[in-house]
Amino acid sequence: MKKSFLSTIAFAGAAAFALTACSSDSGETAEGSEDPGSAGDELITVGFAQTGSESGWRSANTESMQTAFSEENGFELIFNAADNDPAAQISAVRNFINQGVDAIVLAPIVEDGWDDVLQEAADADIPVILEDRTVSASEDLYEAWVGLDFYKEGVMAGEWAAEQFGDTPTRMVVLEGTTGSAPANDRAAGFNEAIAGTAIETIDSQTGDFTRDGGKAVMEGYIANYGIDNIDLLYAHNDDMGLGAIEAIEAAGGVPGEDITIITIDAVKDGMQALVDGKINFIVECNPLLGDLAAQLVKDVLAGEEVEKTVYVEDQTFTQEQAAEVIDSRLY
Ligand code: AHR
Repeated sequence: MKKSFLSTIAFAGAAAFALTACSSDSGETAEGSEDPGSAGDELITVGFAQTGSESGWRSANTESMQTAFSEENGFELIFNAADNDPAAQISAVRNFINQGVDAIVLAPIVEDGWDDVLQEAADADIPVILEDRTVSASEDLYEAWVGLDFYKEGVMAGEWAAEQFGDTPTRMVVLEGTTGSAPANDRAAGFNEAIAGTAIETIDSQTGDFTRDGGKAVMEGYIANYGIDNIDLLYAHNDDMGLGAIEAIEAAGGVPGEDITIITIDAVKDGMQALVDGKINFIVECNPLLGDLAAQLVKDVLAGEEVEKTVYVEDQTFTQEQAAEVIDSRLY
C-alpha cells in the first residue's frame, strides 16, 4: 500500500500544485485528446456524500470540497449531506451509482456497514475516494483516502493532559463523537493510550454526537450527577461539544477553563476564540481543508494514474498563548 504524510506546508504546496496543474493545463494529453476536467471539455460528475452539518469543522470541510469540486475546476458536484444518518448516507451513495456518476467521494459517518454498497460501486466501475473518515471495509473497495490521523490527535490531547495532571488524582469526563465513527473510536484510543499510568480517572464518557447541543446536554447531565467541584477535566472529541459544555458550566455558575480544565479537538474559529478567552485550555487541530487533495485524487484516478492509497494531513496543537498569536491568520 502506498502511504504519504503531508505536513501543513507540504499540504498547502500540494494543493497549490494541484490548482496550478489544473489551471495551466492546455487541455491536451500526450495523445492529443482533451484532458478530462480542463476548460472546454465535459465536466467530471462527482457525487459527494457528506456526513451532515453537525459542526463548525463540517461547514469548513463542505466549503473546501465545494470550492475544489467547482465547474471552473472541471467538475459537476452532486452534493448530499446525510444529517448523520448512516442508512441515509448509504442510500445517497446508491443513488450516485444509479445516476452513473464518474466518481464518488465519501466522508463516511461510521466505519462499519460499507462493504455492500462499495462493492456495488466497484461492480459499476465507479471509483470511490474517501475523505476525512475511514471505513472498516476492505481497502480494495476504494481507491484512496485523504484525511487526518485521529489516533495521533487523541495521543497529542492525552499527552498534554498527562503533562498537566500526571500523578495528581484527576476526575475526567469525556464527550465522545458520533458512536461508531472513526474519529470517536481513534481519539478515544489515542487519548487512553497517552494517559495510561497517570492518576487521571475517567468517571463518565458519553456521546454528544459532535454537536454543540449534544455536548451541552451531556455536560448538563454530568454536572447534575457529579457536581462541578467533582469534575477536574473535560476531554471533548471536538470543539463544538466543548463549546456546548462551556455553556452548561457557565449556566451552572462554574468558570470553564478554571474550575474544569477543557481539552478539545478541531481548532475552528469559535474553538480558538474560546481558547484565547481562557475557556478552553488546549486544542489539537483537525484540518478540514481537504478539498483540493480530494479533487486531485479524483482526477488522477480517472486518468488511470497510480495514487497514494492513504494521504495524511498533519495537525498542530495550540495552547492559549499560541492561539492568541495565530487566531487572526486562521483560515477556518
Ligand atoms: O471527522 C472529523 C470530525 O467530524 C470533526 O472533528 C468534527 O468536528 C466533525 O463533525
